[in-house]
Amino acid sequence: MFLKHLSAIFVSIATIRSAYGRACSAPPSLCAYDLTGAFTPKKRATCAGGQTVQNEACCAWFPVLEDILPNMFDNECGDEAHGALRLSFHDAIGFSPSQGGGGADGSIIVFNDTELQFPANSGLDDPVNTEVPFIQAHNVTPGDFIQFAAAVSLSLCPGAPKVDFMMRRPMPLAPAPGPDGLVPEPFDNVNVILARMADAGGFTATDVVALLASHSVAGADTVDPTIPGTPFDSTPALFDTQIFIEVQLRGTQFPGRQPGQGEVMSAVTGELRLQSDHLMARDSATNCAWQSFAGNLPGTQSAFATAFNKMAIIGHNPANLIDCSDVIPGAPPLPANAGPHLPAGQTQNDIEQACATAPFPTFTAQPGPATTVPAIPQV
Ligand code: HEM
Repeated sequence: MFLKHLSAIFVSIATIRSAYGRACSAPPSLCAYDLTGAFTPKKRATCAGGQTVQNEACCAWFPVLEDILPNMFDNECGDEAHGALRLSFHDAIGFSPSQGGGGADGSIIVFNDTELQFPANSGLDDPVNTEVPFIQAHNVTPGDFIQFAAAVSLSLCPGAPKVDFMMRRPMPLAPAPGPDGLVPEPFDNVNVILARMADAGGFTATDVVALLASHSVAGADTVDPTIPGTPFDSTPALFDTQIFIEVQLRGTQFPGRQPGQGEVMSAVTGELRLQSDHLMARDSATNCAWQSFAGNLPGTQSAFATAFNKMAIIGHNPANLIDCSDVIPGAPPLPANAGPHLPAGQTQNDIEQACATAPFPTFTAQPGPATTVPAIPQV
């Protein structure tokens, strides 16, 4: 009897849904079932500044955006933007179904006394110190702010894809388990990193390689602490695919006097190469994915955005979050002359072919004397 009633209710909801489904003429992504089960155009709200958003709660993020672009990031894809992006990874990855941790929950800020002591979080005191006053000023949760700042940081890096931003992460309850293990280290081998990333967020090998496109807008401060701000590729202010090309070149030199732990020789003067990136480019589990992104900006953008969006909600049920992606600005395109290239002084013969099933794509070298990459100006 009960079952009969239940199925009658389902039938009537289905009837209402299909009736309204025919009524919602907008594309399916702009329609939603409301509380009565009707399939209607999603509601939009207009914020005080005139912007329109899907959910009124998202309006609160526009003042944050307008504050952090000039006052936290100086409107550039520089040191602060790079630090915010790295922080989002180190907060989110602190989760394991077996060991605990809250994922992208802001624990790296709230429990910074604990988490910043973890060796893998070395150097993150800078972005934590930068972000805390903005979190206090805007009264948002640290978990939300860290992911918001990372999404906004990408919007400052020409060539970056637009990533999602979900709000409503609660305050963290405890620090991520430590001191070692949950955050990948540059001296970990590929199997260890892939296993950790699969455990934390179900990331595939290709997802992990795609996430490393982030190292296209990045450098190291602490791997060799004598040379802070040493970039990982020749264009650290552009989200491009140079990281996938330059790490495949034969390494010949260290940028500092002595290599740091987890550092191997790089091909270009002034560049620092992480051992983990070097191995990802060469290990049979990842080398073809790595190669597939070299010179393939659209493929890199889309795979990075997919994996990043997954990373930003580790530890959360998406049904409890509000999608505020419409607050995140798009990044400018790459400059017209920023096409993929070999750095000046390199040739195709310097590429260490690793993928067994396809040749590495061919690139021309920039003209002029061998490239020397300047350090990223430190704040
Ligand atoms: C999965 C393996 C990864 C390893 C082993 C790794 C390791 C590192 C290391 C050692 C540094 C240099 C830190 C320093 O000395 O200052 C670094 C920098 C950076 N990483 Fe990663 N990383 C990984 C993945 C990621 C991911 C998934 C992201 C973001 C989505 C990311 C974003 C960054 C950024 C933006 C920087 C530059 C920070 C700055 O310039 O201040 N990394 N990474």
